[in-house]
Amino acid sequence: MVGRDAVLDELADALDGPPGSAGRAALITGNRGIGKTVVLNEAEALARERGWLVLSETATDGLVDRITADGLPELADLLRQSPASRPRVRGISLPGGLGGVDLDLPQEQGPGGLRRQLNAITDLLDEHDTGIMITIDEVHARGARDDVAQLAAVVQHAFREDRPVAFAAAGLPAAVQDLLTADVSTFLRRARRFVLEPLSPVAAEEALRVPIIEAGRQVGPDEVARMAEATYGYPYLVQVVGDRAWRQDPSSEAITADHVARGIDDAVREAGFALHEPAVNDLSDTDRKFLAAMAVDTTGESAISDIEARLDRDHGYVSRYRSRLIVAGVVEPSRRGYLRFTIPYLAEFLRARVDYL
Ligand SMILES: Nc1ncnc2c1ncn2[C@@H]1O[C@H](COP(=O)(O)OP(=O)(O)O)[C@@H](O)[C@H]1O
Ligand SMILES: [Mg+2]
Repeated sequence: MVGRDAVLDELADALDGPPGSAGRAALITGNRGIGKTVVLNEAEALARERGWLVLSETATDGLVDRITADGLPELADLLRQSPASRPRVRGISLPGGLGGVDLDLPQEQGPGGLRRQLNAITDLLDEHDTGIMITIDEVHARGARDDVAQLAAVVQHAFREDRPVAFAAAGLPAAVQDLLTADVSTFLRRARRFVLEPLSPVAAEEALRVPIIEAGRQVGPDEVARMAEATYGYPYLVQVVGDRAWRQDPSSEAITADHVARGIDDAVREAGFALHEPAVNDLSDTDRKFLAAMAVDTTGESAISDIEARLDRDHGYVSRYRSRLIVAGVVEPSRRGYLRFTIPYLAEFLRARVDYL
């Protein structure tokens, strides 16, 4: 974990502070591969370390019913088991004395059921000075909008009643913005926003160098700088570039310029599977043609007027697809009249597959 101390410190403070502390409702946004899910997982770990219960979900259709039918009932079961007989559930440690409790969880579904279940659980947790963290990944998913709105309303209500609840959600920037302006919930709109940015070059270099040195191999400053540059500060790429450079010849004492060059090539190929394909697969044929028209440019950005000319379409048509692709988190405005890809190496990926487009 590098470069996310500020976010995690604030989330930890919110857990240690009183109900309603600002960071107890957090909305984490950033591009694909920037580390949103990792931050959510770390937030969950912070909660568990403090003896909190954690309900970890992804926003897909049926979210609310999943929570009321499975998520909360499972946590309730855990609370009912005596501490001694409780199976060792990974990472869960309830505060001393909690367990073997008599907890009556309403069997009801829907938002009403969710509210009553959460009340029953938080009444109990509050008595034991602990709480529950709810995390929702991919919160922007369109298919789950109603569910997210219902959940947010219930959590908002719990906040108003000073219940020990923390809520953290993560999603793609423009899609989350879309969700917020769609009037889904004032609660989400007021949540503490954390925009995850690429790591600074210094942080990326450190993230690459330290594990290599600690594992007993050598690497020179030029090699580290070259690797860091190739990551664009994306934690995903830091991970993969470091790993692939390492693997070129684990028996050699030092990681050489040649290992680095080949490692970067391997990492970029790997990113094709892990980042680029998933981002492009969800798109329509027309979206992809739009991206292919952008990928022609090798300068790092594309003029909207050039895209119009290449697609032979008018401004209105191109504007519509431009907006769609921004919400999909694949492109972003670089300056007025220009677009660029959000994900490093996506242009190269697309250029290598014009046939597939
Ligand atoms: N802060 C970090 N430090 C080290 N590695 C990270 C960090 N954030 C993310 N990663 C790595 O990058 C990968 C992608 O992160 P992830 O959280 O899945 O991105 P996102 O959810 O934003 O698409 C992770 O699997 C992990 O290997
Ligand atoms: Mg993710």
